[in-house]
Amino acid sequence: MALQAIKYSRGELRILDQTKLPHQEQYDSLRSSNDAWHAIKNMRVRGAPAIAIVAALALAVELEIIQADGKLSEIAEEIKLFVYEKLDYLVTSRPTAVNLADAAGKLKKLVDGAAAGKEATGEKVKDAYILAAEEMLVDDVRDNENIGRHGAEWIIRNCDGGGMKTRILTHCNTGSLATAGYGTALGVIRSLHANGSLELAFCTETRPYNQGSRLTAYELVHDDIPAVLITDSMAAALLQQENIAAVVVGADRVAANGDTANKIGTYALSILARHHGAKFLVAAPRTTIDLGTASGKDIIIEMRPGEEVGRVRGPRDCGGGEVDPDCWETVSIAPKGIKIWNPSFDVTPAELIDGIVTEVGVVEKGSDGSFHLNI
Ligand code: MRU
Repeated sequence: MALQAIKYSRGELRILDQTKLPHQEQYDSLRSSNDAWHAIKNMRVRGAPAIAIVAALALAVELEIIQADGKLSEIAEEIKLFVYEKLDYLVTSRPTAVNLADAAGKLKKLVDGAAAGKEATGEKVKDAYILAAEEMLVDDVRDNENIGRHGAEWIIRNCDGGGMKTRILTHCNTGSLATAGYGTALGVIRSLHANGSLELAFCTETRPYNQGSRLTAYELVHDDIPAVLITDSMAAALLQQENIAAVVVGADRVAANGDTANKIGTYALSILARHHGAKFLVAAPRTTIDLGTASGKDIIIEMRPGEEVGRVRGPRDCGGGEVDPDCWETVSIAPKGIKIWNPSFDVTPAELIDGIVTEVGVVEKGSDGSFHLNI
C-alpha cells in the first residue's frame, strides 16, 4: 500500500507524525488551523507541498466543525475575513517554502470571489473554500506523477548511462511523506524504478533533522527500491567513485532566475555534481516557483533551534535492529555552551542547476544561459 502522510475525508484530517518515523506509525488528528500551525512548526508534517495541503485542509475541517456546532455565520463577508485571518496565521508557521503562501494567496482569491456574488452566504463561501482545499490534495498527486515521468525521461535521454541503468543521489525527503503522494525528486526515482531504469538510489542522511535516514530510507525500503544510505559527508567520495548519473533534489522555493532554496546541504551537492560531471536536477511543482522573488538572495532562510544539531532523539535501541517504541531518549552530542548555527535551507545558484523538472516538463536554460520559468 502507498505511504500516506495525509489522510483526509470531509470533516476529518489526520497526519502521520513524521517525528516518530521510521519507528512508529502514528496518525494525529488535526481539527483547526491552530493544530496545523503547531504540527508544521514542530515538523510533524514537513516538506513544501505537504505543509501547504495540511494547512489548507485543517482550515477546511475547522470550518466544517464550526458549522456542525451551529456557529457558522450566515454572512459571506464574515466567513471571508475569518478565512483570511486563519490563512495569514498559517503562513507564519515556516517561512522558506513558498507553497503555503502560494496556496493561501489562491484560496483568498477564491474566497473573495465566492463572497462577492449577490447570492453569497457564509455557507456558500465555506463550501467554495473546502472544495478548493480538497482539490489541492488531488492535484498534487497527479502533478507529482507527471514530475516523476518527465524527470525520468530526461535522465534517460541526457545521462550517459550507455544503455545501462542509472544511479541517482537524492537529499532530504521529497517523497510521499513530503507531498500528497508519490513525491517530487523521489517521484523521479520511483518512476525510474518503475520503468526498469534505476540501478540504485543513494540517499543522504540529511543532518541535522535526518529526513534522509528517517524518512527517505523508510520510503525506499517500503517500496522495495534498491537503495543505499550515506552520511552527508560521504557525498563527495560517492560522486568520485560510484558513477552517479544525476543528483535529484526537491525545492522549497525557486526564484524567478532559477536560484533554488532547498534543504541545507543541497548547495554543496550541486557543486559536487558539477565537479564530477553528474547532472543536477531540481524537481518541484510549478507552485514552488516564485516569480515574485527575483533571485536567491531575496529568499528568507528559516533558522531552526540549535538543539536540533546538538542533540539526537530516538527510541531506545534494544539490539538486533529492534527498538522500544515506548521509550524515547534524547542524547546530547555537543558540549554545553557551544554556539550552534542551524539554517534549515540553503540556496543553490541557477548556474549549477541543469534542469528544473515540473509537472509540465523539464525547463532547461535558454540560449541566453538563463532559466525562463514563466510556465
Ligand atoms: O525542513 P523540511 O523537511 O520541510 O525540508 C524539506 C525539503 O527541503 C524538501 O526538499 C522540499 O520541501 C521539497 S518536498 C517535495
